[in-house]
Amino acid sequence: MDESEKIKQLKKKRNAIILVHNYQRADVQDAADFVGDSFGLSQKAVASGADVIVFCGVDFMAESAAVLNPEKTVLMPEISAQCPMAAMITPEALKLEKQKHPDAAVVCYVNTSAAVKAESDICCTSANAVKVVNSLAEKEIIFVPDRNLALYVASHTEKKIIPWKGYCPTHHLILPGDVMLEKEEHPDAEVLVHPECRPDVVALADKVLSTAGMLKYAAQSDAREFIIGTEMGLLHRLVKENPGKKFFIATEYAVCPNMKMNTLGSIIRALEKNELVIKVPENVRKKAKLALDRMLEAGRGD
Ligand code: 13P
Ligand code: SF4
Repeated sequence: MDESEKIKQLKKKRNAIILVHNYQRADVQDAADFVGDSFGLSQKAVASGADVIVFCGVDFMAESAAVLNPEKTVLMPEISAQCPMAAMITPEALKLEKQKHPDAAVVCYVNTSAAVKAESDICCTSANAVKVVNSLAEKEIIFVPDRNLALYVASHTEKKIIPWKGYCPTHHLILPGDVMLEKEEHPDAEVLVHPECRPDVVALADKVLSTAGMLKYAAQSDAREFIIGTEMGLLHRLVKENPGKKFFIATEYAVCPNMKMNTLGSIIRALEKNELVIKVPENVRKKAKLALDRMLEAGRGD
């Protein structure tokens, strides 16, 4: 029996669903019940009637699913699939920042630990960061941990944004020169970039979108060619869902090694051995859930 068949059998046996981020390996995406961006995956985690959620993404995504679904078993196939940006802020450091700005609200990008979410007023994703910030009553916002997303939000709000200094090492490898080169070679292409990109790359974009936002935009646009400024894994769906359109990655260096750790074999192992179960201490979970619930209530932005 091949690996996909084995996964189907195990899913049935355990009443499991497989949630997969848009940056995962192509064969892992093809084994999914749902493939999406961080916002869509959080929504699906809540809506599912499954007993078991296998989360193929990185640590903070599985942890968010566990925060939102304490009664379900959330499995992470590869525990080493950790997001380096999420590790760039700790709850202790955030507490100190809050003391410096007592009137500010705290917005945390979903790429954070549950403990950091528990210290925040509301979460956001790349799809709704501007919408979330503008929905708040406070005039000052501490925005953690992604500096680039914070700067992007700052250019779309009247509020004072206090950025943290984190960044995504993968999106930082997309350079303005890469985009310029692709533009020279494909002058009719539209440039779609993720807001985790550096500001000088964002400045070259026609549209700044989450991964699901890029998929939606590319499907609806009259353009036939697109330059894509995000992690390479998104090209799998862009190409598959848009026959006849062409997609050029801004740079082949835009690979997130952490996102690529999950395999069909590790999904099988997770379901067979019931590992690794993600659990969040109840006092942290309850507070983190408030921040995630508020984000889901705010809705998707793009
Ligand atoms: P989205 O898919 O939500 O745009 O997130 C990108 C990302 O970097 C997730 O780690
Ligand atoms: Fe983290 Fe960047 Fe990888 Fe997303 S692409 S998981 S933000 S390192």
